[in-house]
Amino acid sequence: MCGIIGYVGQEQAAPILLQGLFRMEYRGYDSAGVAVWSQEKGLQVEKTKGRIQVLSDLLHGGDDMEGTMGIGHTRWATHGEPSDINAHPHVSESGNIALVHNGIIENYMEIKEFLLHQGIHFSSDTDSEVVAQLLEYYYDKSHDMLDAVSRVIHRIQGSYGFGIICSDYPGSLIAARKDSPLILGYGDGFHFLASDVTAMIQYTRDIAYMDDGEIAVITANSIQVYNNMLEPVKKEHQHVVWDVSAAEKGGYPHFMFKEIMEQPEAFRKAVFPRIRDGRVMLEDLKLTTWQIRDFNKIDIIACGSSYHVGMVGKYNLERLLRRPVEVFLASEFRYCDPLVDKKTLVIVISQSGETLDTMAAMREAKRLGGRTLAIVNVMGSSIAREADDVLYTWAGPEIAVATTKAYSTQLAVLDLLGLYLADVLGTVEPEEYDAIVKEAHTIPEKMEAILAKTADIQYFASQYFNHDSVFFIGRNLDYAMGLEGSLKLKEISYIHSEAYASGELKHGTISLIEKGTLVVALGTYEPLFDKAMSNVVEVKARGAEVLALTTDNFREKMEKIADSVISVPCTHQIFQPSLGVVPLQLFAYYVALHRGCDIDKPRNLAKSVTVE
Ligand code: AGP
Repeated sequence: MCGIIGYVGQEQAAPILLQGLFRMEYRGYDSAGVAVWSQEKGLQVEKTKGRIQVLSDLLHGGDDMEGTMGIGHTRWATHGEPSDINAHPHVSESGNIALVHNGIIENYMEIKEFLLHQGIHFSSDTDSEVVAQLLEYYYDKSHDMLDAVSRVIHRIQGSYGFGIICSDYPGSLIAARKDSPLILGYGDGFHFLASDVTAMIQYTRDIAYMDDGEIAVITANSIQVYNNMLEPVKKEHQHVVWDVSAAEKGGYPHFMFKEIMEQPEAFRKAVFPRIRDGRVMLEDLKLTTWQIRDFNKIDIIACGSSYHVGMVGKYNLERLLRRPVEVFLASEFRYCDPLVDKKTLVIVISQSGETLDTMAAMREAKRLGGRTLAIVNVMGSSIAREADDVLYTWAGPEIAVATTKAYSTQLAVLDLLGLYLADVLGTVEPEEYDAIVKEAHTIPEKMEAILAKTADIQYFASQYFNHDSVFFIGRNLDYAMGLEGSLKLKEISYIHSEAYASGELKHGTISLIEKGTLVVALGTYEPLFDKAMSNVVEVKARGAEVLALTTDNFREKMEKIADSVISVPCTHQIFQPSLGVVPLQLFAYYVALHRGCDIDKPRNLAKSVTVE
C-alpha cells in the first residue's frame, strides 16, 4: 500500500526513481511524485494525480529533472482524496525538506493544530504533510536533521516508512520506519531505499531490512543505521535469490495470467524440497514434538485470500489432526478478546508479510501467550521476522493485485504443515499419510493439464461475462474454495458476487435466485457430490443458469443438469481445492478481460494493505 523509493549515487536519479515506481505501481496507483536534489537546481518536486505513466510523461521519462539523489512515491489514498496536492512528496513550508510517507499518522490532527498555532501553513489534506512540517519545526530549533527526525518519531503515533531529503544535507537521504516496510539496497557507489525489493532489484540484490524505530542516513558511499536512541546499529545483509525477470511480465499480457500459469512450478518449489524419502520435513520449524503435543487448539488468522486459505485449512487440518481449528479475520481477531493461551498454535497467513491487520493480530496472539507460526511469501517481511516460526511459500514475487500463485502455495504449505503435525500427533493412518505424500507429487502435472485447457474457460467467460450478479455455492471444501472464486471474480471484474455454503441457500439467499442468475456450482468434494447435485437442481428450478465445476469422474453426471461444466482431475480430497481454484482464477481473469477491466490494477485496491 503506497510505494517508496529513494536513490543516491552517480546516475541521474529521476529515471531510476520512475522505473522503481513503475515496478511498485501495484502497491498503489492513484497519484505519484518524485523529488530530486542537485547542487545547481536545489530541490525539484513534481507530483500528479493518476498513474506513474502520467508522471513519467510530465517529466519526459525523468529527463526534466537534474540530480543524482531523490525520493519517489506511488500513493493509495487514505487521508485526502487522490489529487496533485495530496500526492507525495510533501514539502515543508520553507521548501527545505521533502518527505514521502507510507502508513498512517494517527495523531496528525492534534499535531496539525499545534503547528497551525505556530503559524505554519498547510497545502494538503494529508497526515503526511503534517510530518514534513513537524520535521521542519524541530529542525529549525536544532539544525540537526537526525535529531529532528528522532524528535518527530517520538512525537507521532501510527505507522510509517519515511524517505526524506533536506537541502542542507547534500548527498544524504534519510529514512525511518515503524510498522511499514523499508528496505535498504547496497551497491558500489550508490544506495537505495525502497518499500519493496522489486523497485531496486535491477540494480542490487544485496539488501537489509530496516527494523521498527530505526533511522538510516543513506549516501552514495555509505549507509548508517541508528536505533531510536540514535545509537549506531549494524545491519545484517540478505541476498535476494530471484532476479529482475521474475518481476516482469515476460511476454504474458498480464501479471495475473503469468502468475496463474506459474502455479505448477510454484507448487513444486513450495512442496517438493519439503518431502524427502516419503516424509514431510519442515526443518525450518523450531517447534518441538513436545510443544506440538501440548497444543489443544489451532487458530488461523489472515485477511482476504489468505483467510480463504485458512478456511480450506480448517477442513483439512481438523480432519487430519482431530483438534479444533478456528479461522479468524485478522481485523476482527484483535478486537474480539480472543481465547488464546500457551496451548494455542496460532497460524498466521500472509503473502506480503506486511498486512497491518494480520501483524497486529499476530502481536495480540503473542501477547496472550500463543505460539505463532507464519506462512509468508515475502522473505524478511515484518510478519516473517516477528513470528516464532516461519514457513516461506517460495512463490517468487507476486505482482498482480489479485493473488493466485501465493494462494496456491499458501494452501500447499498449510496442507504439508497439517500432515507434518498429524504425523507427530499420530492422528493420520500411515497408509493415508503415504497416499497424501504420493499424491502431492502429481499436483503440478494435474495443474498443467487444467492450464492446457484455458480455451474452454475462456469460452465460458465469453458466455457469462455480462451477468451482474453471481453466486458461488458449495459444501465443505467446495464452500471454502468458492469464497476464493467469488473474491477473484468481484475484485477484478467488479461483478457483484457472493459465496454461500449450499445448504444455507434455502435459509434466505435463495430468494435472490431468479431467471438468468448465474450460479457457479462447485461439486469437487466427492463425499458430498450428490448433495451438490441436489442444490444445482434447486437453483435450476428457480431459473438460474448454472456453470458447474466438478471432477473428471463426475463430469458426465453433472452435464445432465448443469448448463455448462468444467472438470478438473481427481486427487486426494485435501488437494482438490488446489486444483479446483485454478479454473476459478481463470474464469475471473477472462471475465474481467471481456469486460475491459484493468486486471492487474483493479480499482480501489492495492497489493499490500499496510493500514488498518
Ligand atoms: C486477494 O486477491 C487480495 N489481494 C487480498 O484479499 C489479499 O489476499 C489480502 O489483502 C491479504 O494479503 P496478504 O496475504 O499479503 O496478507
